[in-house]
Amino acid sequence: MALALPRGDEKRRTVERMFDRIAPRYDRLNSLISMGAHGHWKRLAVAALELVPDATVIDLACGTGDLAAEARKYTERVVGVDFSAGMLAEAQRRDACRVLVRADAARLPLADSSADALVCGFALRNFVALDEVFAECARILRPGGRLAFIEVDRPDNAFVRACFGLYFGRLVPVLGGLLSDRYAYAYLPSSVDYLPEQEALTTMLTDVGFHGVGKRQLLAGTAQLLTATRGRVE
Ligand SMILES: C[S@@+](CC[C@H](N)C(=O)[O-])C[C@H]1O[C@@H](n2cnc3c(N)ncnc32)[C@H](O)[C@@H]1O
Repeated sequence: MALALPRGDEKRRTVERMFDRIAPRYDRLNSLISMGAHGHWKRLAVAALELVPDATVIDLACGTGDLAAEARKYTERVVGVDFSAGMLAEAQRRDACRVLVRADAARLPLADSSADALVCGFALRNFVALDEVFAECARILRPGGRLAFIEVDRPDNAFVRACFGLYFGRLVPVLGGLLSDRYAYAYLPSSVDYLPEQEALTTMLTDVGFHGVGKRQLLAGTAQLLTATRGRVE
């Protein structure tokens, strides 16, 4: 059954506490639920940033730092940002990147045009106000800077959608409840309802100054990779 989804400040508090609780078991559950596919998706997301050595990369909502660790294969200048102290502690424990910052994605303590690229995995659904987060991404990225978001998606194909609904909507909450946290893994499939449709996401990104917004479907449309480039600053 779908969960009643929190909004506004209540959502912020709920999400932060939830990730603090599940942080120690997050990586194991993530690999299990995605059947290992998330590692491949994260490599694709970082590759889409077209990083050069010494590029400054932000892993927004870095969690335990998978994307930061992947970006570090290209450059040492990787900054992980997250508001969950629990998730940041895990990222620090595995030495995912040199700099970890505890902050809300909608209010980044980073200078204008200070980053060459930004990557963000599986967090769009968790943000309270996507327009504010996108505006922050645009502010901190230099003109020409690349952005890549990975997120779950709603498959177009009816058969895939039905199978994925059974797996993600029914089995994952049971598995997650047994192995980690019942609320968090019931929230996971329900939180897809927060995601705007592709057209709305493209408009929001374009409105704050991105161009060339592209979407690549992953694993039969169960996940997506969104990419865009920061336009010139007026
Ligand atoms: C599903 S996890 C993804 C972690 C990591 N990016 C990955 O791909 O494995 C979502 C992360 O977003 C973080 N998060 C959610 N809302 C946030 C916000 N408003 N500001 C900063 N971090 C946020 C959570 O603390 C959590 O670590």
